[in-house]
Amino acid sequence: MKQREHFGSRFAVIAAMAGSAVGLGNIWRFPYILGEYGGAAFILVYMAACLVLALPIFYAESIIGRSSRSDTFGAMNKLAPGTPWRWVGLLTIISPLLLLGYYSVVGGWSVEYLFKSLSFSFTEVPAEEVPHFFGRFISSTWQPLFAHTAFMALVAGVVLGGVRNGIEKFSKLAMPALFILILVIVGYSLTLPGSFKGVEYLVKPDFSKLSADAIAAALGQAFFSLSLGVGTILTFSSYVKKEENLLVSGVGTAASDLLFAVIAAFAVIPAVFAAGLQPSGGPGLVFETLPYIFNKMGEGMPLLSTLVSSIFFVAILAAALTSAISMLEVGVAFLTDEWGMKRRSATLVLTFFCWSVGILCSLSFGPLADVKVLGLTFFDFLDHLCSDWLLPVGGLLFTTFVGWKMSKDKVRDEFTNGGTVNTRLFDTVYFLMRYVAPVGILVVFATNLLM
Ligand code: PFF
Repeated sequence: MKQREHFGSRFAVIAAMAGSAVGLGNIWRFPYILGEYGGAAFILVYMAACLVLALPIFYAESIIGRSSRSDTFGAMNKLAPGTPWRWVGLLTIISPLLLLGYYSVVGGWSVEYLFKSLSFSFTEVPAEEVPHFFGRFISSTWQPLFAHTAFMALVAGVVLGGVRNGIEKFSKLAMPALFILILVIVGYSLTLPGSFKGVEYLVKPDFSKLSADAIAAALGQAFFSLSLGVGTILTFSSYVKKEENLLVSGVGTAASDLLFAVIAAFAVIPAVFAAGLQPSGGPGLVFETLPYIFNKMGEGMPLLSTLVSSIFFVAILAAALTSAISMLEVGVAFLTDEWGMKRRSATLVLTFFCWSVGILCSLSFGPLADVKVLGLTFFDFLDHLCSDWLLPVGGLLFTTFVGWKMSKDKVRDEFTNGGTVNTRLFDTVYFLMRYVAPVGILVVFATNLLM
């Protein structure tokens, strides 16, 4: 039997998992969601959601992945042979591919904005013009399609390299670089006059603004941001060595994810306040507001502002790429493990599938804007289907599997590396996986259905 690939070190494991977790969810989504739900209070709820709900599901996926050393489908087949659980495995192969279809469109936007920035587009026109770039760009036919294609090609290129050469090398380079890049933007953002109000907004909680849907939004964001419920963490865990401490890689990943989200908020929100704009600007916040701010900053110093904005979009692109790679890897692992396909053909077939889904999503802002599925455009439909349903359903099934289907001894054995580590914490983590996480997800469902 062919030797399964492994991540080379603990740093590599955390870098690849954090690479999956840190993405558009942190830099594009987190700042506008917290802007919509009230700032500092939302951050606190989000942290609680990560700790008591997301982290246990992270461990459930890690336990299934490492104990089976398989892709999601193979894992279920091995751990619960002959049961319907393998359909859960199949579901979580399809969901990240659908997710990648529309994620790649947003990834493409960051490719385009990097080019716009490098070609001085933000500084050469009057400030009022800049926010309109976004609407004009996404509603056109070809430009977003080219950008989406370029993004998918980059993703396929890295996945083709394999776990050790492709994903690991890329993540090790991109994650620390990204961290430094965002800190540069934070530093810049905090020097802007008026940015202090933004800092206040991020550190002074106002609990009166916290509603039930803010809590549901925090839970949903935790899923999206930690890449849960779609088999990504499960698949990456199947490449983790037996000696690795799962507790540590989970905490390391969750902590870096949270850190990136909070830093991204400190990069974006103070700048929004400095420009006298609204933090509740919605999904356009990064793509509409920041170029406008960069334009204002660039008055008299277009070179400096171009440098800052280019750094920012490189950071977004790097983050989006490492996440997108992890979505594709789930399906590639399935096709190579289960169907015996070569990594190369598996990557190309799945890339083509995601690229085709992405075409529909990209065109849904322009020529296909009137084509609706259940009243939503392709892009909105897929976004809604993935974030509100597929991810939570996947997470619920994984944690139910570990908490109720696997034997407690096997779960303990995997989590504690045969009773050598984390033995004191096991009961708490097990309780969270068995009771707290499933109930928490059901609450998210109930809230989504009722609102
Ligand atoms: N966690 C990624 C982000 O925050 O952008 C999104 C994501 C990646 C979700 C991988 C799911 C996944 F499998």
